Amino acid sequence: MENEVLKISNFSAGFGQCAILRNINFSVFQNRVTAIMGPSGCGKTTMIRCINRMHELSPAAYYSGEILLHGQNIFSMDPIIVRRRIGMVFQRPNPFPTMSIYDNVISGFILNGMKLKKEQKDQIVVNSLKKVGLWEEVKDGIYRRGTFLSGGQQQRLCIARALAMDPDVILLDEPTSSLDPKSTLMIEQLLEELKQTTTIVIVTHNTAQAARIADYVAFLYLGELIEFGPAKKIFTAPENKKTEEYLTGKFS
Ligand SMILES: Nc1ncnc2c1ncn2[C@@H]1O[C@H](COP(=O)(O)OP(=O)(O)OP(=O)(O)O)[C@@H](O)[C@H]1O
Ligand SMILES: [Mg+2]
Repeated sequence: MENEVLKISNFSAGFGQCAILRNINFSVFQNRVTAIMGPSGCGKTTMIRCINRMHELSPAAYYSGEILLHGQNIFSMDPIIVRRRIGMVFQRPNPFPTMSIYDNVISGFILNGMKLKKEQKDQIVVNSLKKVGLWEEVKDGIYRRGTFLSGGQQQRLCIARALAMDPDVILLDEPTSSLDPKSTLMIEQLLEELKQTTTIVIVTHNTAQAARIADYVAFLYLGELIEFGPAKKIFTAPENKKTEEYLTGKFS
């Protein structure tokens, strides 16, 4: 029996007259990797921006329906708390350019005005960097700027920054699309490890990547959820023709 972390119900969203997501229903299960797939412009980024309450910050943005986090509607929670419990990693690695590696990892605490003792900070920084396999690579220079790192290292730093807040869920929006194959593989292996202790939602265009790491797949097409289910089922016996066509590369 799966443990439901997020439940998205009758959820719609868009901008002004423009409907982007229509009546979306799916769940995200604990310690699982859920991949959101679908062609460009189908609403993947909008979906995860809704889940951590960033969508509503855009001008003319609207939404309706429910997103429950462990049974609690995120839209009745403080958005700061939602973002603490639901971390986000973006497509392009975006460490804060003026901050050191150390400060980047604990920036969630700094920006939220949460005071920590030096020992607590040190511990969070070391643990988070270890979790993403970056500690050995950077331990002699953690006061250097994060932007000195390679692209793959920067993306792992961004994942460490999300993990530092000890979130219930991490959302990643095409986290490897700007990385080389070696860094991509490293991030995929990292996500496999991280799902032991957290829950992962990844937007990916890459069917092979989803086949390697996803436990569940949500397939979006033109703002609608066409199919959702266990990855094995979706990849071997999709119910919808569109899903099959997309996964076999008939369109992208
Ligand atoms: N601020 C905005 N105002 C109006 N429309 C927007 C805005 N942001 C995005 N859109 C539109 O919403 C639709 C869905 O965009 P979204 O970024 O969610 O797609 P996506 O599936 O993530 O695509 P991609 O794979 O290219 O990243 C697109 O048609 C886009 O043009
Ligand atoms: Mg996108």
